[in-house]
Amino acid sequence: MANKFEITAVKGREILDCRSYPTLQVDVWVNDAVLGRANVPCGRSTGTNEAYELRDGGKRYSGFGVRKAVDNINRIIAPEVVGEDVRNQRKLDQLMIELDGTENKAKLGANAILGVSLAIAQAAASSLGISLYKYIDVNAHILPVPVLDLIEGGKLAASELDFQEHQVIPVGAKSFSEAIRMGMEVYYELGNILAEKWGKHSLNVGVEGGYTPPGMKDPREAFDAELLAIQKLGYEDEFVLSLDCAASHFYIRETGKYVFMGKEITRKELMDFYKELVSSYPLQSIEDPLQEEDFDGFAELARTLNIQIIGDDLFVTNINRLRKGVEKGAANALLFKVNQIGSLSEALDAAQFAFRNSYGVQVSERSGQTEDTWLADLAVGLNAGQIKTGVARSERTSKYNRLLQIEEELGSAAKYAGREFRQPF
Ligand code: PGA
Ligand code: ZN
Repeated sequence: MANKFEITAVKGREILDCRSYPTLQVDVWVNDAVLGRANVPCGRSTGTNEAYELRDGGKRYSGFGVRKAVDNINRIIAPEVVGEDVRNQRKLDQLMIELDGTENKAKLGANAILGVSLAIAQAAASSLGISLYKYIDVNAHILPVPVLDLIEGGKLAASELDFQEHQVIPVGAKSFSEAIRMGMEVYYELGNILAEKWGKHSLNVGVEGGYTPPGMKDPREAFDAELLAIQKLGYEDEFVLSLDCAASHFYIRETGKYVFMGKEITRKELMDFYKELVSSYPLQSIEDPLQEEDFDGFAELARTLNIQIIGDDLFVTNINRLRKGVEKGAANALLFKVNQIGSLSEALDAAQFAFRNSYGVQVSERSGQTEDTWLADLAVGLNAGQIKTGVARSERTSKYNRLLQIEEELGSAAKYAGREFRQPF
């Protein structure tokens, strides 16, 4: 008879993400009785240095199929992992990394490896009879602030805004559930304000459920509308603003300039614009303010702006790039996206390295998301203090709904990160 924690089967399959593109779902069975299942997310606004996402090419699903990755799971990874103890997360991740043998998981696919890695963690937690967040850390208790992407631009929307996400954070709420309620009230109110001033097509939403006001080009107009909604509800002391600029996506490599609000501007002009934003708005966090190789620019902004500066495309949840960032003082927070690196243990290494160097950690979705909820458990398991997963539609709200369950499960032990979201304790 198999031991209680022995992996007895691993099975990958092709499913759809929220944009109806194919992605992977992986089942890991323990002792033929307990199932751990995980879905893999996919990015659109991806960093150049992310681990390799294996797609089939050809005609099927316009080349986006993942049958090769499914095959790699079922024929190459499964035989190696079956028979192992499901609690040996790090050893099993290492085994898959070695089986792949490339720097960026190009052979088996980071999507294939990550799917198995996450399903192993889920299966281990289930076989121990505990929630995933508790399996990650027995001391998990901090509920993150939700970073709500209320107005969308860049690659994630058909709007004319160059910055990708114009976010609000309910830092003054007393609990996570209160934060969600206040955040959604602002979302509804903002809808009314935008429809009145920018037309009803504003209510078409981008990939993450945020509004897309036609004709709006200036991020200050997005902030003004958000602040108006916040003020109308009497919440001006409870919210701060934040941004994901995703600047690599409006950077012109050939000229070293940025195309912003219809003009080519220099790096210095863009940096001055951030200074102006920080002095005129309650802006507390900026993600990817500059293109993904500008470590020195990220360092200068971290030194001078005195707010949170997050590296997403800059760090790609890769400890080597984060190490370089810490040496240079580039940014002061890590965007944590497990599929950028392709295994749970490597992503956890990056988070731990960030914490040890007093960097913040924002746990993040991808634009191509599924109904799976492990992201919520990781945010609490890391005591990260911040999560971003869009604002509306079930692939986003499923994470918030899971966090509401966790808050209830933790009861009086739960602590909302609130204003201390950068270094919660
Ligand atoms: P992505 O976008 O998931 O498409 O990469 C989100 C982000 O840039 O943070
Ligand atoms: Zn980003």
